[in-house]
Amino acid sequence: MRTNKGTIMTARIKHVLTVVATVCAIFGLSTAHAADEPENIIKYRQNLMKGVGAHITNIAAVVKGQVTITDNLMTDAQSVANGLANVDKLFPVGTERGKTNALAAIWEDRAGFNKALSDAQAAAKNILDAVDSNDIAVIGKALGALGKSCGGCHKPYRKKM
Ligand code: HEC
Repeated sequence: MRTNKGTIMTARIKHVLTVVATVCAIFGLSTAHAADEPENIIKYRQNLMKGVGAHITNIAAVVKGQVTITDNLMTDAQSVANGLANVDKLFPVGTERGKTNALAAIWEDRAGFNKALSDAQAAAKNILDAVDSNDIAVIGKALGALGKSCGGCHKPYRKKM
């Protein structure tokens, strides 16, 4: 009995390890990479921006009346605000080269970049209040301003995509 149980446990642990290895392989994860390699930070910030883009697109779908599900408006607005909260940390020196659409202007004019960022952060806060109002017209207006603020950084600091 004891050996049997032990064998089953070993088989289970092996199974779990196989699952973990498979998940890592699927997501291209490896524990062997050095932390904060510029190419990893670039991918990381592009994914963060993609997420922000996805959330704002879903808010727009509701505002345009393409979707009548309003339950996620607040979490979408919060995700945009949270996503933008730490953008200043995503552009360290060394990440201006490589597979990036970031323009050198970010590192040449950090004050301007930070201003564009704080404008966008303020616009994201406004849309949180707008969602609180439950008024689609108010949300639409705040969304327009938020969208403009994204462009306010992309135009001077991101390559045309
Ligand atoms: C302060 C500057 C700044 C603000 C504000 C900003 N972005 Fe970006 N965004 C960038 C930069 C720079 C890149 C290019 C990053 C790279 O390629 O390394 C980018 C890239 C992107 C991308 C492309 C990601 C990819 O797949 O490569 C999307 C989508 C995006 N931003 C959406 C948004 C949205 C939506 C907002 C507004 C809610 C926003 N961004 C606000 C600077 C900003």
